[in-house]
Amino acid sequence: MCRCSVHPGPTARIVEAEAVIMERLEELGRVSDEPSLLLFDGSGRTNRLTRLFASPAMKRANDLVASWMRDAGMTTRMDAVGNLIGRFSKLREDSKILLLGSHLDTVRNAGKFDGTLGVAVSIACVEEIRRRNQTLPFAIEVAALADEEGTRYQTAYLGSRALVGQLSEQDLALVDADKITMADAIRNFGGDPAKLKSCRVNGQDLLGYVEVHIEQGPVLEEKNQPVGVVTAIAGQTRATVILEGRSGHAGTTPMKLRRDALCAAADFILAAENYARQHPGMVATVGQIMAGPNVSNVIPGNCLLTLDLRHQEDAIRVKAFQELGTCIEEIENRRRVKAHSRIIQETTSVQCSTALSDLMRNAVRRHQPEVIDLVSGAGHDAAIMAKITPIAMLFVRCAGGVSHHPDESVRVDDIRVALDVLTDFVLSLPAPP
Ligand code: GLV
Ligand code: MN
Ligand code: MN
Repeated sequence: MCRCSVHPGPTARIVEAEAVIMERLEELGRVSDEPSLLLFDGSGRTNRLTRLFASPAMKRANDLVASWMRDAGMTTRMDAVGNLIGRFSKLREDSKILLLGSHLDTVRNAGKFDGTLGVAVSIACVEEIRRRNQTLPFAIEVAALADEEGTRYQTAYLGSRALVGQLSEQDLALVDADKITMADAIRNFGGDPAKLKSCRVNGQDLLGYVEVHIEQGPVLEEKNQPVGVVTAIAGQTRATVILEGRSGHAGTTPMKLRRDALCAAADFILAAENYARQHPGMVATVGQIMAGPNVSNVIPGNCLLTLDLRHQEDAIRVKAFQELGTCIEEIENRRRVKAHSRIIQETTSVQCSTALSDLMRNAVRRHQPEVIDLVSGAGHDAAIMAKITPIAMLFVRCAGGVSHHPDESVRVDDIRVALDVLTDFVLSLPAPP
Protein backbone atom coordinates (compact mmCIF):
# COMPACT_ATOMS: atom_id res chain seq x y z
CA MET A 1 0.00 0.00 0.00
CA CYS A 2 1.45 3.28 -1.04
CA ARG A 3 0.80 5.34 2.01
CA CYS A 4 3.80 7.47 1.24
CA SER A 5 2.29 9.47 -1.54
CA VAL A 6 4.73 12.11 -0.34
CA HIS A 7 6.96 12.76 -3.28
CA PRO A 8 9.11 15.85 -3.23
CA GLY A 9 7.17 19.01 -3.95
CA PRO A 10 3.53 19.80 -3.34
CA THR A 11 2.25 19.26 -6.90
CA ALA A 12 3.49 15.69 -7.10
CA ARG A 13 1.48 14.83 -4.07
CA ILE A 14 -1.72 16.41 -5.40
CA VAL A 15 -1.47 14.31 -8.55
CA GLU A 16 -1.18 11.15 -6.50
CA ALA A 17 -4.01 11.56 -4.01
CA GLU A 18 -6.65 9.89 -6.19
CA ALA A 19 -4.33 6.96 -6.84
CA VAL A 20 -3.82 6.55 -3.10
CA ILE A 21 -7.58 6.56 -2.58
CA MET A 22 -8.02 3.94 -5.30
CA GLU A 23 -5.32 1.75 -3.78
CA ARG A 24 -6.95 2.02 -0.39
CA LEU A 25 -10.32 1.05 -1.84
CA GLU A 26 -8.73 -1.95 -3.55
CA GLU A 27 -7.13 -2.93 -0.25
CA LEU A 28 -10.40 -2.55 1.67
CA GLY A 29 -12.12 -4.52 -1.09
CA ARG A 30 -10.03 -7.53 -0.09
CA VAL A 31 -11.12 -7.31 3.56
CA SER A 32 -14.03 -9.70 3.51
CA ASP A 33 -15.85 -12.09 5.80
CA GLU A 34 -15.99 -14.51 2.87
CA PRO A 35 -12.41 -14.32 1.69
CA SER A 36 -11.82 -17.55 -0.17
CA LEU A 37 -15.18 -18.74 -1.30
CA LEU A 38 -15.11 -20.34 -4.73
CA LEU A 39 -17.79 -18.81 -6.89
CA PHE A 40 -19.75 -20.80 -9.39
CA ASP A 41 -21.23 -17.85 -11.22
CA GLY A 42 -18.89 -18.12 -14.16
CA SER A 43 -17.25 -14.80 -13.33
CA GLY A 44 -13.90 -16.36 -12.53
CA ARG A 45 -13.76 -14.50 -9.21
CA THR A 46 -12.47 -16.55 -6.34
CA ASN A 47 -13.57 -14.43 -3.48
CA ARG A 48 -16.35 -12.04 -2.75
CA LEU A 49 -16.70 -8.95 -0.64
CA THR A 50 -19.06 -9.25 2.28
CA ARG A 51 -18.23 -7.19 5.34
CA LEU A 52 -20.78 -7.38 8.09
CA PHE A 53 -21.48 -5.31 11.16
CA ALA A 54 -19.21 -6.25 14.09
CA SER A 55 -17.54 -9.07 12.17
CA PRO A 56 -13.88 -10.17 11.98
CA ALA A 57 -13.54 -8.42 8.58
CA MET A 58 -14.98 -5.23 10.03
CA LYS A 59 -12.35 -5.38 12.78
CA ARG A 60 -9.60 -5.61 10.17
CA ALA A 61 -11.21 -2.81 8.13
CA ASN A 62 -11.39 -0.58 11.21
CA ASP A 63 -7.72 -1.24 11.99
CA LEU A 64 -6.69 -0.43 8.44
CA VAL A 65 -8.78 2.73 8.19
CA ALA A 66 -7.62 3.86 11.63
CA SER A 67 -4.01 3.60 10.43
CA TRP A 68 -4.84 5.82 7.42
CA MET A 69 -6.56 8.29 9.71
CA ARG A 70 -3.52 8.45 11.95
CA ASP A 71 -1.26 8.89 8.92
CA ALA A 72 -3.45 11.86 8.00
CA GLY A 73 -2.81 13.45 11.39
CA MET A 74 -6.01 12.39 13.08
CA THR A 75 -6.54 10.93 16.51
CA THR A 76 -8.85 7.93 16.43
CA ARG A 77 -11.43 6.38 18.70
CA MET A 78 -13.95 3.56 18.39
CA ASP A 79 -17.33 4.11 19.97
CA ALA A 80 -19.35 1.53 21.90
CA VAL A 81 -21.02 -0.01 18.80
CA GLY A 82 -17.92 -0.11 16.61
CA ASN A 83 -18.04 3.19 14.72
CA LEU A 84 -14.52 4.41 14.02
CA ILE A 85 -14.04 8.15 14.30
CA GLY A 86 -10.96 10.16 13.40
CA ARG A 87 -10.49 13.72 14.62
CA PHE A 88 -8.39 16.44 13.03
CA SER A 89 -8.11 19.66 14.92
CA LYS A 90 -5.65 22.06 16.47
CA LEU A 91 -8.49 23.79 18.31
CA ARG A 92 -9.95 23.32 21.77
CA GLU A 93 -11.89 20.15 22.50
CA ASP A 94 -15.19 22.04 22.58
CA SER A 95 -14.84 23.61 19.12
CA LYS A 96 -17.55 22.97 16.52
CA ILE A 97 -17.15 19.90 14.34
CA LEU A 98 -17.71 19.29 10.66
CA LEU A 99 -18.49 15.58 10.39
CA LEU A 100 -17.51 13.81 7.15
CA GLY A 101 -17.92 10.13 6.45
CA SER A 102 -19.80 7.10 5.26
CA HIS A 103 -19.97 3.39 6.08
CA LEU A 104 -17.56 0.46 6.02
CA ASP A 105 -20.05 -2.42 5.97
CA THR A 106 -21.30 -3.98 2.74
CA VAL A 107 -24.09 -6.04 1.28
CA ARG A 108 -23.29 -9.66 0.36
CA ASN A 109 -21.11 -10.01 -2.73
CA ALA A 110 -20.66 -6.26 -2.79
CA GLY A 111 -18.77 -3.77 -4.89
CA LYS A 112 -15.81 -2.00 -3.32
CA PHE A 113 -16.98 1.63 -3.51
CA ASP A 114 -20.35 1.78 -1.75
CA GLY A 115 -19.59 3.48 1.59
CA THR A 116 -15.82 3.07 1.50
CA LEU A 117 -15.42 5.74 -1.19
CA GLY A 118 -16.85 8.38 1.17
CA VAL A 119 -14.57 7.29 4.00
CA ALA A 120 -11.44 7.23 1.83
CA VAL A 121 -12.17 10.58 0.15
CA SER A 122 -12.86 12.19 3.54
CA ILE A 123 -9.51 10.99 4.92
CA ALA A 124 -7.75 12.23 1.76
CA CYS A 125 -9.49 15.59 2.20
CA VAL A 126 -8.02 15.88 5.69
CA GLU A 127 -4.62 14.90 4.30
CA GLU A 128 -4.94 17.61 1.67
CA ILE A 129 -5.91 20.28 4.20
CA ARG A 130 -2.99 19.28 6.39
CA ARG A 131 -0.64 19.31 3.40
CA ARG A 132 -1.73 22.85 2.60
CA ASN A 133 -1.17 23.74 6.23
CA GLN A 134 -4.64 25.30 6.35
CA THR A 135 -5.95 26.37 9.73
CA LEU A 136 -9.67 25.76 9.98
CA PRO A 137 -11.99 27.51 12.43
CA PHE A 138 -13.58 24.15 13.28
CA ALA A 139 -12.57 20.55 13.86
CA ILE A 140 -13.06 17.87 11.22
CA GLU A 141 -14.13 14.41 12.25
CA VAL A 142 -14.30 11.51 9.83
CA ALA A 143 -16.79 8.78 10.71
CA ALA A 144 -16.25 5.28 9.31
CA LEU A 145 -19.64 3.92 10.28
CA ALA A 146 -20.19 0.37 11.42
CA ASP A 147 -23.38 -0.47 9.52
CA GLU A 148 -25.53 1.21 6.92
CA GLU A 149 -26.69 -1.74 4.85
CA GLY A 150 -28.41 -3.77 7.56
CA THR A 151 -27.09 -7.00 6.04
CA ARG A 152 -26.43 -8.79 9.31
CA TYR A 153 -29.50 -7.80 11.36
CA GLN A 154 -31.94 -6.90 8.58
CA THR A 155 -32.27 -3.45 10.06
CA ALA A 156 -30.13 -0.72 8.61
CA TYR A 157 -28.10 2.31 9.75
CA LEU A 158 -26.92 0.79 13.04
CA GLY A 159 -23.84 3.05 13.04
CA SER A 160 -25.53 6.38 12.39
CA ARG A 161 -28.53 5.47 14.55
CA ALA A 162 -26.13 5.01 17.46
CA LEU A 163 -24.73 8.49 16.77
CA VAL A 164 -28.16 10.13 16.84
CA GLY A 165 -29.37 8.11 19.85
CA GLN A 166 -31.84 5.94 17.93
CA LEU A 167 -30.37 2.53 18.48
CA SER A 168 -32.48 0.86 21.14
CA GLU A 169 -32.43 -2.02 23.61
CA GLN A 170 -34.89 -3.74 21.24
CA ASP A 171 -32.35 -3.53 18.44
CA LEU A 172 -29.71 -5.05 20.73
CA ALA A 173 -31.93 -8.10 21.23
CA LEU A 174 -32.22 -8.84 17.48
CA VAL A 175 -30.49 -12.02 16.33
CA ASP A 176 -28.54 -12.70 13.15
CA ALA A 177 -28.76 -15.83 10.99
CA ASP A 178 -26.55 -17.66 13.53
CA LYS A 179 -28.81 -16.56 16.41
CA ILE A 180 -26.15 -14.22 17.79
CA THR A 181 -27.75 -11.20 19.42
CA MET A 182 -26.62 -7.77 18.38
CA ALA A 183 -25.54 -7.15 21.98
CA ASP A 184 -23.26 -10.21 21.90
CA ALA A 185 -21.90 -9.28 18.48
CA ILE A 186 -20.98 -5.82 19.75
CA ARG A 187 -19.37 -7.30 22.87
CA ASN A 188 -17.35 -9.82 20.83
CA PHE A 189 -16.21 -6.97 18.61
CA GLY A 190 -14.81 -5.07 21.57
CA GLY A 191 -17.67 -2.62 21.97
CA ASP A 192 -20.03 -2.25 24.89
CA PRO A 193 -23.79 -2.60 24.35
CA ALA A 194 -24.40 -1.22 27.86
CA LYS A 195 -22.90 2.08 26.74
CA LEU A 196 -25.15 2.86 23.77
CA LYS A 197 -25.76 6.34 25.11
CA SER A 198 -22.07 7.18 25.01
CA CYS A 199 -22.17 6.93 21.19
CA ARG A 200 -24.51 9.90 20.94
CA VAL A 201 -23.26 13.00 19.24
CA ASN A 202 -24.72 16.31 20.29
CA GLY A 203 -26.19 18.01 17.22
CA GLN A 204 -25.33 21.39 18.77
CA ASP A 205 -21.64 20.52 18.45
CA LEU A 206 -21.90 19.85 14.72
CA LEU A 207 -21.76 22.22 11.76
CA GLY A 208 -23.16 19.47 9.59
CA TYR A 209 -22.63 16.00 8.20
CA VAL A 210 -21.28 15.66 4.66
CA GLU A 211 -21.13 12.38 2.78
CA VAL A 212 -19.44 11.55 -0.52
CA HIS A 213 -20.96 8.42 -2.09
CA ILE A 214 -21.12 6.66 -5.43
CA GLU A 215 -24.28 7.57 -7.26
CA GLN A 216 -25.45 3.96 -7.62
CA GLY A 217 -27.53 5.13 -10.57
CA PRO A 218 -27.01 6.15 -14.22
CA VAL A 219 -27.70 9.91 -14.24
CA LEU A 220 -24.18 11.33 -13.94
CA GLU A 221 -22.90 8.95 -16.57
CA GLU A 222 -25.73 9.97 -18.88
CA LYS A 223 -24.93 13.64 -18.30
CA ASN A 224 -21.21 12.99 -18.63
CA GLN A 225 -20.35 14.71 -15.35
CA PRO A 226 -18.08 13.28 -12.61
CA VAL A 227 -20.05 14.45 -9.57
CA GLY A 228 -23.49 15.73 -8.60
CA VAL A 229 -25.17 17.32 -5.60
CA VAL A 230 -27.90 15.42 -3.77
CA THR A 231 -31.02 17.41 -2.96
CA ALA A 232 -33.03 14.73 -1.12
CA ILE A 233 -32.92 11.09 -0.05
CA ALA A 234 -36.01 8.96 -0.73
CA GLY A 235 -37.89 7.39 2.16
CA GLN A 236 -38.14 3.64 2.48
CA THR A 237 -40.21 0.95 4.11
CA ARG A 238 -38.65 -2.42 4.82
CA ALA A 239 -41.07 -5.17 5.80
CA THR A 240 -41.31 -8.93 6.13
CA VAL A 241 -44.26 -10.97 4.92
CA ILE A 242 -44.82 -14.49 6.26
CA LEU A 243 -47.17 -16.68 4.25
CA GLU A 244 -48.55 -19.84 5.81
CA GLY A 245 -50.13 -22.49 3.65
CA ARG A 246 -49.95 -26.27 4.05
CA SER A 247 -47.10 -28.52 3.08
CA GLY A 248 -47.85 -31.88 1.56
CA HIS A 249 -46.79 -34.59 -0.85
CA ALA A 250 -45.63 -33.24 -4.20
CA GLY A 251 -46.73 -36.40 -6.01
CA THR A 252 -50.12 -37.10 -4.50
CA THR A 253 -51.73 -33.74 -3.68
CA PRO A 254 -53.96 -32.60 -6.55
CA MET A 255 -53.28 -29.09 -7.77
CA LYS A 256 -56.68 -27.78 -6.79
CA LEU A 257 -56.29 -28.88 -3.17
CA ARG A 258 -52.95 -27.18 -2.62
CA ARG A 259 -52.23 -24.25 -0.34
CA ASP A 260 -48.75 -23.54 -1.67
CA ALA A 261 -47.06 -20.72 0.25
CA LEU A 262 -44.29 -20.28 -2.31
CA CYS A 263 -46.80 -19.87 -5.16
CA ALA A 264 -48.59 -17.27 -3.03
CA ALA A 265 -45.24 -15.52 -2.56
CA ALA A 266 -44.68 -15.61 -6.32
CA ASP A 267 -48.06 -13.91 -6.84
CA PHE A 268 -47.12 -11.23 -4.33
CA ILE A 269 -43.68 -10.62 -5.84
CA LEU A 270 -45.19 -10.00 -9.26
CA ALA A 271 -47.99 -7.87 -7.79
CA ALA A 272 -45.41 -5.66 -6.04
CA GLU A 273 -43.42 -5.36 -9.25
CA ASN A 274 -46.53 -4.42 -11.25
CA TYR A 275 -47.60 -1.91 -8.65
CA ALA A 276 -44.23 -0.15 -8.75
CA ARG A 277 -44.20 -0.14 -12.55
CA GLN A 278 -47.55 1.60 -12.55
CA HIS A 279 -46.54 4.31 -10.07
CA PRO A 280 -43.83 6.68 -11.34
CA GLY A 281 -40.92 7.12 -8.97
CA MET A 282 -41.81 4.00 -7.00
CA VAL A 283 -39.41 1.08 -6.60
CA ALA A 284 -40.42 -2.20 -4.94
CA THR A 285 -38.07 -5.12 -4.34
CA VAL A 286 -38.45 -8.57 -2.84
CA GLY A 287 -34.80 -9.32 -2.21
CA GLN A 288 -34.98 -12.24 0.17
CA ILE A 289 -37.16 -15.32 0.24
CA MET A 290 -37.10 -18.45 2.38
CA ALA A 291 -39.46 -21.30 1.72
CA GLY A 292 -40.13 -24.16 4.11
CA PRO A 293 -39.54 -27.00 4.32
CA ASN A 294 -37.46 -26.28 1.19
CA VAL A 295 -37.45 -29.83 -0.08
CA SER A 296 -37.91 -30.70 -3.74
CA ASN A 297 -40.75 -33.17 -3.29
CA VAL A 298 -42.73 -31.30 -0.63
CA ILE A 299 -45.23 -28.52 -1.33
CA PRO A 300 -43.94 -25.38 0.42
CA GLY A 301 -46.03 -24.85 3.54
CA ASN A 302 -44.56 -21.53 4.58
CA CYS A 303 -42.59 -18.72 3.11
CA LEU A 304 -40.90 -15.62 4.43
CA LEU A 305 -40.09 -12.76 2.12
CA THR A 306 -38.90 -9.22 2.48
CA LEU A 307 -40.33 -6.12 0.83
CA ASP A 308 -38.31 -2.95 0.24
CA LEU A 309 -40.46 -0.06 -0.93
CA ARG A 310 -39.18 3.40 -1.80
CA HIS A 311 -40.48 6.71 -3.08
CA GLN A 312 -39.41 10.31 -2.82
CA GLU A 313 -42.81 11.26 -1.39
CA ASP A 314 -43.63 9.67 1.92
CA ALA A 315 -47.42 9.81 1.47
CA ILE A 316 -47.19 7.86 -1.80
CA ARG A 317 -44.94 5.24 -0.19
CA VAL A 318 -47.25 4.83 2.81
CA LYS A 319 -50.28 4.48 0.53
CA ALA A 320 -48.40 1.92 -1.57
CA PHE A 321 -47.70 -0.20 1.50
CA GLN A 322 -51.41 -0.13 2.39
CA GLU A 323 -52.48 -1.03 -1.13
CA LEU A 324 -50.00 -3.89 -1.30
CA GLY A 325 -51.56 -5.05 2.00
CA THR A 326 -54.94 -5.25 0.23
CA CYS A 327 -53.26 -7.18 -2.52
CA ILE A 328 -51.93 -9.69 0.04
CA GLU A 329 -55.49 -10.13 1.39
CA GLU A 330 -56.67 -10.99 -2.11
CA ILE A 331 -53.88 -13.58 -2.42
CA GLU A 332 -54.78 -15.00 1.02
CA ASN A 333 -58.36 -15.56 -0.06
CA ARG A 334 -57.61 -16.88 -3.49
CA ARG A 335 -54.83 -19.26 -2.40
CA ARG A 336 -56.20 -20.10 1.06
CA VAL A 337 -53.02 -19.04 2.86
CA LYS A 338 -52.58 -16.84 5.92
CA ALA A 339 -50.33 -13.79 5.76
CA HIS A 340 -48.63 -11.75 8.49
CA SER A 341 -46.74 -8.66 7.47
CA ARG A 342 -44.57 -6.54 9.71
CA ILE A 343 -42.73 -3.30 9.08
CA ILE A 344 -39.10 -3.77 10.13
CA GLN A 345 -37.90 -0.29 9.38
CA GLU A 346 -39.29 2.91 7.98
CA THR A 347 -37.35 6.04 7.11
CA THR A 348 -38.98 9.17 5.84
CA SER A 349 -37.56 11.09 2.91
CA VAL A 350 -35.01 13.71 3.88
CA GLN A 351 -34.10 17.06 2.33
CA CYS A 352 -30.46 18.08 2.21
CA SER A 353 -29.51 21.44 3.70
CA THR A 354 -29.92 24.26 1.18
CA ALA A 355 -27.06 26.26 2.68
CA LEU A 356 -24.56 23.37 2.67
CA SER A 357 -25.71 22.16 -0.76
CA ASP A 358 -25.27 25.65 -2.21
CA LEU A 359 -21.69 25.70 -0.93
CA MET A 360 -21.22 22.27 -2.47
CA ARG A 361 -22.63 23.50 -5.80
CA ASN A 362 -20.17 26.42 -5.77
CA ALA A 363 -17.34 23.96 -5.20
CA VAL A 364 -18.60 21.69 -8.01
CA ARG A 365 -18.80 24.67 -10.39
CA ARG A 366 -15.06 25.17 -10.00
CA HIS A 367 -14.27 21.64 -11.21
CA GLN A 368 -16.79 20.66 -13.88
CA PRO A 369 -18.93 22.46 -16.47
CA GLU A 370 -22.36 21.52 -15.23
CA VAL A 371 -23.86 21.27 -11.74
CA ILE A 372 -26.23 18.32 -11.58
CA ASP A 373 -28.80 18.00 -8.79
CA LEU A 374 -29.93 14.49 -7.95
CA VAL A 375 -32.40 12.75 -5.68
CA SER A 376 -31.05 9.62 -4.02
CA GLY A 377 -33.14 6.48 -4.29
CA ALA A 378 -30.62 4.69 -2.09
CA GLY A 379 -30.60 5.12 1.66
CA HIS A 380 -27.61 6.82 3.24
CA ASP A 381 -26.24 7.51 6.70
CA ALA A 382 -26.87 11.17 5.92
CA ALA A 383 -30.62 10.48 6.11
CA ILE A 384 -30.19 9.47 9.75
CA MET A 385 -27.68 12.21 10.60
CA ALA A 386 -30.26 14.74 9.31
CA LYS A 387 -32.16 14.14 12.54
CA ILE A 388 -29.53 16.11 14.45
CA THR A 389 -27.62 18.26 11.96
CA PRO A 390 -27.80 19.79 8.44
CA ILE A 391 -26.58 17.37 5.78
CA ALA A 392 -25.09 17.55 2.29
CA MET A 393 -24.12 14.80 -0.11
CA LEU A 394 -21.88 14.61 -3.15
CA PHE A 395 -22.50 11.77 -5.60
CA VAL A 396 -19.72 10.36 -7.77
CA ARG A 397 -20.41 8.84 -11.19
CA CYS A 398 -20.21 5.04 -11.39
CA ALA A 399 -20.08 2.82 -14.46
CA GLY A 400 -23.50 1.85 -15.77
CA GLY A 401 -25.09 2.91 -12.51
CA VAL A 402 -24.16 -0.56 -11.20
CA SER A 403 -24.03 -0.96 -7.44
CA HIS A 404 -24.56 -3.65 -4.78
CA HIS A 405 -22.63 -5.83 -7.20
CA PRO A 406 -18.93 -6.72 -7.59
CA ASP A 407 -18.88 -4.88 -10.93
CA GLU A 408 -19.29 -1.53 -9.14
CA SER A 409 -16.73 0.77 -10.73
CA VAL A 410 -15.60 4.39 -10.31
CA ARG A 411 -13.05 6.25 -12.43
CA VAL A 412 -9.90 7.44 -10.73
CA ASP A 413 -10.19 10.90 -12.34
CA ASP A 414 -13.73 11.21 -10.94
CA ILE A 415 -12.33 10.44 -7.50
CA ARG A 416 -9.92 13.32 -8.04
CA VAL A 417 -12.83 15.65 -8.81
CA ALA A 418 -14.72 14.44 -5.73
CA LEU A 419 -11.67 15.09 -3.55
CA ASP A 420 -11.14 18.57 -4.98
CA VAL A 421 -14.81 19.47 -4.58
CA LEU A 422 -14.95 18.21 -1.01
CA THR A 423 -11.74 20.05 -0.12
CA ASP A 424 -13.01 23.30 -1.64
CA PHE A 425 -16.31 22.83 0.14
CA VAL A 426 -14.62 22.37 3.51
CA LEU A 427 -12.39 25.39 2.95
CA SER A 428 -15.39 27.51 1.95
CA LEU A 429 -17.40 26.72 5.06
CA PRO A 430 -17.84 29.89 7.11
CA ALA A 431 -16.42 30.09 10.61
CA PRO A 432 -19.01 29.13 13.23
CA PRO A 433 -20.54 32.11 15.07
C1 GLV B 1 -28.40 1.03 0.96
O1 GLV B 1 -27.49 0.89 0.18
C2 GLV B 1 -29.76 0.97 0.49
O2 GLV B 1 -30.21 1.97 -0.08
O3 GLV B 1 -30.37 -0.07 0.61
MN1 MN C 1 -25.38 0.13 -0.21
MN1 MN D 1 -23.94 3.11 0.88
